[in-house]
Amino acid sequence: MTVKVGILISGRGSNMMALAEAGKASGAPYEIALVASDKPEAPGLTWAEGHGIATFAQSPKGMPKPEYEAAIDAALRGAGVEIIALAGYMRLLSDDFVARWRGRIVNIHPSLLPKYKGLDTHARAIDAGDAVAGCSVHVVTEELDGGEVLGQAEVPILPGDTPDTLAERVLAAEHRLYPRILADFVAR
Ligand code: GAR
Repeated sequence: MTVKVGILISGRGSNMMALAEAGKASGAPYEIALVASDKPEAPGLTWAEGHGIATFAQSPKGMPKPEYEAAIDAALRGAGVEIIALAGYMRLLSDDFVARWRGRIVNIHPSLLPKYKGLDTHARAIDAGDAVAGCSVHVVTEELDGGEVLGQAEVPILPGDTPDTLAERVLAAEHRLYPRILADFVAR
């Protein structure tokens, strides 16, 4: 049986693409039932449409947060989504939303959690003089980037790395890590 996954994105959606491609492989334990975004102009939505994946866009502008999240929730449930994967979704989910999907939301974060929760992870790792950076897939709870870590990939920080050069290599690691960890997660 294939688990239906809904992906929330805010931007280019390269992790979403990696998940969608892996979900199409024969024998994959999950399939992408919906790609939804808070940004109607998100490039990832166009890619998803072009690949025959249902999409949904709802800007939260001028809307109370509960109403915005109710619209996202209805779209996900309408598509039969069982697990939500956040992939560069740059908005905090309310405690209420997290409670309604308790234990069924995962996220990819560009640091080796519990290090560098929040934003500017690569600059902070370089400034701290770390030798290694990386990415983590974790369960989403009410605590920002604080839920159970499901898997991580390490990426060495090279001499002369800038946040951008490091981000590029970490992103490549994200594309390998996320499909593998999501496959394990939906099967457990
Ligand atoms: C990825 O690097 C992801 O880890 C990060 O945003 C990027 C999205 O890229 N997520 C966060 O910082 C979440 N706090 P993508 O849209 O190409 O997948």
